[in-house]
Amino acid sequence: MKTIDVRTGRPYQVLIGKGLLKDAGRLARPLVKGSRTVIVGDSNVMPLYREAAGESFREAGFEVTFWKFPAGEASKNPQVLLELLNHLARLRLTRSDSIVALGGGVTGDLTGLAASLYLRGIAFVQIPTSLLAMVDSSVGGKTAVNLEAGKNLMGAFYQPVLVVCDPACLDTLPADEMSNGWAEIIKYAGLRGEPLLSMLEGEVTETVLSEIIAECVGIKRDIVSADEFEAGCRALLNLGHTVGHAVERVTHYEVPHGRAVGIGMAVIYRGAAKAGICDAAALPILDRLLEKFGLTNLCPYDPAALFEAAHSDKKSAGKTITLILPETFGRCRAEKSPFSTLEKLIELGLNP
Ligand SMILES: NC(=O)c1ccc[n+]([C@@H]2O[C@H](COP(=O)([O-])OP(=O)(O)OC[C@H]3O[C@@H](n4cnc5c(N)ncnc54)[C@H](O)[C@@H]3O)[C@@H](O)[C@H]2O)c1
Repeated sequence: MKTIDVRTGRPYQVLIGKGLLKDAGRLARPLVKGSRTVIVGDSNVMPLYREAAGESFREAGFEVTFWKFPAGEASKNPQVLLELLNHLARLRLTRSDSIVALGGGVTGDLTGLAASLYLRGIAFVQIPTSLLAMVDSSVGGKTAVNLEAGKNLMGAFYQPVLVVCDPACLDTLPADEMSNGWAEIIKYAGLRGEPLLSMLEGEVTETVLSEIIAECVGIKRDIVSADEFEAGCRALLNLGHTVGHAVERVTHYEVPHGRAVGIGMAVIYRGAAKAGICDAAALPILDRLLEKFGLTNLCPYDPAALFEAAHSDKKSAGKTITLILPETFGRCRAEKSPFSTLEKLIELGLNP
């Protein structure tokens, strides 16, 4: 088992190891006062892991109930959030009790936000089951639901008490969903370069995959420990996300988050290379990785619609937006820029 300490205001550990799901309850027990817990999961994950997760928490002395919602990004909305909060209230869960997010990033973001709001904050445990959630969304305490005006517009910074990451859960994850996780992993390589880049370019065995997950969590830990509330360097984690979120919006979330981030990276790298900001040698590296992990570098969407959608990105402030600009593959900078720069980069980078 690998242990990664996250040093946020309320510190916690990310534990990574194959088979850890069965130990999740025992590991969470000392971190939670109350004995009642609600395991939250979506309609795909719940039937697969309800029994194992429930058993794990019951064996550790928890009184366990479950709450299920329809799988998919469309459920990440205020209505479903309210249903979950009402459910917790009907159960009369107390502030010393806990909830568990068992699933991908949608489950983690929704459950984390509910945990931050219910009784002004109760403990929650993240058990990520998608690759994307393992390497990214379960760590760092960003929780949110979407509003009509855009992604993640209703949210809070709220850290879990523990993250239990069991890569065995990936055995049931569909290939397309693996690709979505790879997009965020490629993002980390775009930010840090080695050793992750070599790990991605080599053969990815099961052991290497666990090492890659730990490497990504380590990178995210470093960044969020230095800047928990995104006042500075944490913005780097948004590499590819401004255009990525715009792609999600213009396609009405038909293009999932990870795939959209892959497209967003392709656009911003190409745009930055053509604008002389990024070393052109970065492009074939990115293209190779996107192709290897089942992602696309093509962006067949209307540039004006993308630009319009990017306007409501929450990283925009007045007339400026913080853009994450690649300089080489492995180094990026965050730069407050006028919207016209984004417009130009989208135009330049739209297609190869
Ligand atoms: N909070 C953050 O820091 C952060 C970071 C990145 C992304 N996100 C958010 O995360 C979400 C995307 O996460 P995601 O890709 O995990 O989406 P998701 O939660 O919708 O999961 C993707 C799909 O995989 C299924 N699934 C998950 N685990 C499974 C398993 N082990 N076996 C079979 N099926 C499984 C789900 O049911 C779903 O259909 C987006 O809403 C994005 O905005 C948040």
